[in-house]
Amino acid sequence: MSKVEISASVLAADFTRLGAHIQEAITAGASRAHLDVMDGRFVPNITFGPLVVEAVRRCTRAPIETHLMLIEPDRYIPEFAKAGADVLLVHREACSNLHDTLQRIHGLGKKAGVVLNPATPVASIADVLSEVEQVLIMSVNPGFGGQTFMESSTDKVAQLRAMIVERQLDCAIEIDGGIGPANAGKVVRAGAQVLVAGVSIFQAPEGVAQAIARLRQSAETA
Ligand code: DX5
Ligand code: ZN
Repeated sequence: MSKVEISASVLAADFTRLGAHIQEAITAGASRAHLDVMDGRFVPNITFGPLVVEAVRRCTRAPIETHLMLIEPDRYIPEFAKAGADVLLVHREACSNLHDTLQRIHGLGKKAGVVLNPATPVASIADVLSEVEQVLIMSVNPGFGGQTFMESSTDKVAQLRAMIVERQLDCAIEIDGGIGPANAGKVVRAGAQVLVAGVSIFQAPEGVAQAIARLRQSAETA
């Protein structure tokens, strides 16, 4: 099995020392920074825009993925690309012409990923699967960190895995929401390769380094 990646979800970090907190996670073994952009329309919450992405870009060399929870992602793709995002993740539910949106992201020289809400079936992206570098399965309803992992998402990962293997595609499976040592092994066994984690690493009582080590151990004893 290739190495499981951990993507640190910055939403749960300490924003008074954001740069240092992200660096702590990267040093401890997280290989990406995951930035949740919310517009108060696609989801009920509002977070941050390109300015913060640009600031994070200046404090780490690790790949940055922007999870765009926006009703009109197309309008903002160029700005997030310019701010330094390496991967732009757009929601299936927010894109009326997903193929065109993915082309737009690739046209800017960035990696593209598509995100599925818990109620959106894997079959809905069958026709674009060969055009994305990754698919992100939401294991909570998007909008807030610290929610409880939805068990049904494990089956969805397995379904997606089967589709990717059958078609021999090169597409990574990522999972986001409520991920911690209690469920990492299970989702990795089902086929997840990238684990997004916020509260379970940035707010762990034992500290970021220990939490990442524990998460990895759980993921790799799958
Ligand atoms: C939720 C976000 C997640 C969130 C995950 O809408 O997409 O990335 O920050 O946070 P945890 O790991 O705390 O559930
Ligand atoms: Zn996210």
